[in-house]
Amino acid sequence: MCNFRLLVSFILLFSLSAKAQEFLPTEYPDRINLTFGKQDATPAVTWRVSANIDSGIVEIAPAKADPEFTRKKFSIEAKINPYDDGGVKAHFFSAILDDLEPDSLYAYRVGKKERWSEWFHFRTPSDKNDPFTFLYFGDAQNDLKSLWSRTIRQANLHGKKIDFMLHAGDLVNRGVNDPEWGEWFYAGGWLYGMIPSIATPGNHEFYRDDNGDRHLTPLWQPTFEFPQNGPEGLKESVYYFDYQGCRFISLNTQAMFEAEENSPQPQWLESVLKNNDQKWTIVTFHHPIYSSGYGRDNPDLRNALKPLFEKYDVDLVLQGHDHAYGRGGNIPVGLKNRNIKGPVYVVSVSGPKMYNLSMGEWMDRGAASTQLYQIIDVTADQINFASYTVTGELYDQFEIIKRDHQKIFIDHQERAIEENVQPPQRYQERFSDEDWKEFQNRFDAYKEKKSKTY
Ligand SMILES: [Fe+2]
Repeated sequence: MCNFRLLVSFILLFSLSAKAQEFLPTEYPDRINLTFGKQDATPAVTWRVSANIDSGIVEIAPAKADPEFTRKKFSIEAKINPYDDGGVKAHFFSAILDDLEPDSLYAYRVGKKERWSEWFHFRTPSDKNDPFTFLYFGDAQNDLKSLWSRTIRQANLHGKKIDFMLHAGDLVNRGVNDPEWGEWFYAGGWLYGMIPSIATPGNHEFYRDDNGDRHLTPLWQPTFEFPQNGPEGLKESVYYFDYQGCRFISLNTQAMFEAEENSPQPQWLESVLKNNDQKWTIVTFHHPIYSSGYGRDNPDLRNALKPLFEKYDVDLVLQGHDHAYGRGGNIPVGLKNRNIKGPVYVVSVSGPKMYNLSMGEWMDRGAASTQLYQIIDVTADQINFASYTVTGELYDQFEIIKRDHQKIFIDHQERAIEENVQPPQRYQERFSDEDWKEFQNRFDAYKEKKSKTY
């Protein structure tokens, strides 16, 4: 009997310690998430409470040092989005924060009656083409609480004032798995309430139904409030907005794969690129045009999108999916300061899952086994792109300058730490002699190409 009890308590203890953290909703708001909700970058906010709370309000006021700023508060009624999936019931709320003054500091809180969030500060976008700075993260995806948290926190503590964050897909590993979104929110915590996030979905935000068809997770729509200007059926995953002289476009590349030649996205993209009065254009989506991961390639995607990027002179393409860093312009070997047309392509990774680096022909800079974040400064005539390791070291840097109808690309990778292209440890452990030989050949070709370029 005694031994049996011991066994039961041991099993109980083991099952408790192995249990994933659930992050269930309560009557108090959590997952408070600022976004841009309209084409002109009007801010929006979403949050979550338990399903017994059936209305929600945003209270908002100009932020003042005097704590009695709350006397000037006004209310915005939020829209309810009931959620019931995977055994989790919740009420999400969303509100567009309309009619605010540009470039002004506001304070807001969300909730209802006695159950309020804290007051969060945020600054509205300027209505001029003022300089701004945003963060770009590649795949977070795995161990979000344990190992991705350090990336988003370090990026925001880097020392720059960040205007918003961009997440290039695979934010979580299983998009329908609510606790993983719990970890994503745990990692960024109150930052999401103060700094808007924009996001594009990756393959891991999709699930398969009983017929084997893939769909975007039902958690995407209540978690993010994005502009409703995409093609029918793809709203809030395909969208664009204009921010202080720069057009940001999100495409849903997994949905493009699902739709094959019937995807409305290339035609939609062309209309958005053609009617574009902004000085800069940055496009984000998950699957890369040029792969940074070894043995990976997306030729159909490249054929569908790359001609449009070149025709309309897109400046930057920010991607993920390959779990290795790659940056290149697909510009023929030449001089360092080059007149270019078309985009610089970047693939990055912010979470801990790592793949073998392709060292492909297109790449001018690559990294394996390195968690990274990118700080991108945009001014009226310059984009300064800097990639940092999760430990805060400069890993890559370049500038794009647009002046007098010329676009100049300047590579500053010589300012960065040494390039790390070695395969991840777990690959090395199972590498055969043949694998090493193949790696060495690619490495030699990559070095040879770079020695001609720089
Ligand atoms: Fe992916």
